[in-house]
Parts: sequence; structure tokens; C-alpha cells
Amino acid sequence: MNIRQARVEDLAGMQACNLHNLPENYTMKYCGCSLPRPWVLSFHGLLDLYHALTWPSLSYVAEDNGRIVGYILAKMEEPEEHEGTEKHEQVPHGHVTSISVLRSYRRLGLAKKLMLQSQEAMSTIYRAAYVSLHVRKSNRAALSLYRDTLGFTVKSIEEKYCMCLS
Ligand code: ACO
Repeated sequence: MNIRQARVEDLAGMQACNLHNLPENYTMKYCGCSLPRPWVLSFHGLLDLYHALTWPSLSYVAEDNGRIVGYILAKMEEPEEHEGTEKHEQVPHGHVTSISVLRSYRRLGLAKKLMLQSQEAMSTIYRAAYVSLHVRKSNRAALSLYRDTLGFTVKSIEEKYCMCLS
């Protein structure tokens, strides 16, 4: 198994990997979800492309014999300083948009490796002060990965959807 930086030509493989895991992955915010499936997918495709082109060093894939079996898609959030912005939003920080591992490749430590690789790049290249992400509170596997393995803490719980961790 090989972990390497994601390239634009990996996007189809990443989408295939993600399709197996929807709807647990990709946040509601990005789904906007009364759209019919083909529209949602093409929107995701554009989003992936945007990440890959804008922050190429933050997104990684796990590859097994040329097949993409897991990926992380991440970005930087620029500091926001307009009125009403909370203090933690006023520093550059990373954000994990999406992470997914194919079922038959889970519990092998791939997600942990993908997260650590991306976090390392956020910190060294972009000087990220912290990393945020959204996850459904019902997603036990992902919560355990973030909280127990990687030391994230819950910052807030959004009523209708998910927890925000950092
Ligand atoms: N149950 C409990 N804990 C788990 C589970 C599970 N099913 N899976 C992982 N963990 C925890 C464990 O603490 C594990 O350490 P251990 O194996 O030493 O006990 C630790 O996470 C690391 O596990 P990995 O093997 O690195 O995780 P994996 O490669 O299996 O991927 C993932 C975890 C990404 C959550 C996978 O289950 C998946 O693809 N799920 C569907 C997509 C998804 O939910 N993505 C996250 C949505 S939130 C977002 O994208 C920001």
C-alpha cells in the first residue's frame, strides 16, 4: 500500500471510493441535498478539482496496485476578520473536507496515516494553527479516529447535522 499526494487524474478514483461510502461522507453543507444524484456528483467533482488545484500538498490517496482505496481531501481556511468572527477563526487553519477508505481496506491504519500526512503538511507548509472538520455524531468509526486516535476535541454540535471538531 502506498500513500502519495493526490493528483488531478486521481479524481475519478477518489470519487469511486467515495461513492461506496455516501451518504456518510461529504458534509451536508456541500451536498445541499435535494439535488438529483448526477448534479450532486458533478458538484463534488468540481469541489475535488478545486481542492486539488488550490492546495495540492494537502490531499492524499492510498493506492493498492494502482487502485485508489482511500483518500483525504483537505484545504486551508484563511483567517476571517470581519465583525462577529470568533477568535479561533482569525488564524489560518486547515480543514478536512472529506476522508474515506474502501470497506475492505479499513482498520489497517490508512485513515490515520492519511490524516497525519495532511495535518503535517498543513502545519509545515501553511503554518496552520489547528485543523477543523465536521462529522455526524452517529459516525462512530470516524469519531473514534478523530477523538481517540488523533486527539481532536468537540467544539460544537450543530442541531441538525454534525459535530465540529478541531
Ligand atoms: N469502530 C471503532 N473505531 C474505529 C473504527 C470502527 N469501525 N474504524 C476506525 N476506528 C478508530 C480506531 O480507534 C482505529 O484505531 P485501531 O484500529 O488501532 O483501533 C483508528 O480509528 C484508526 O483507524 P484506521 O484504520 O486508520 O481507519 P480506517 O482506515 O478504517 O478509516 C474511516 C476510518 C475513514 C472513518 C472509514 O471507516 C470510512 O471510510 N468510513 C466511511 C466514510 C466516512 O465516514 N468518512 C468520515 C466522514 S467525516 C469527514 O469526512 C470529515
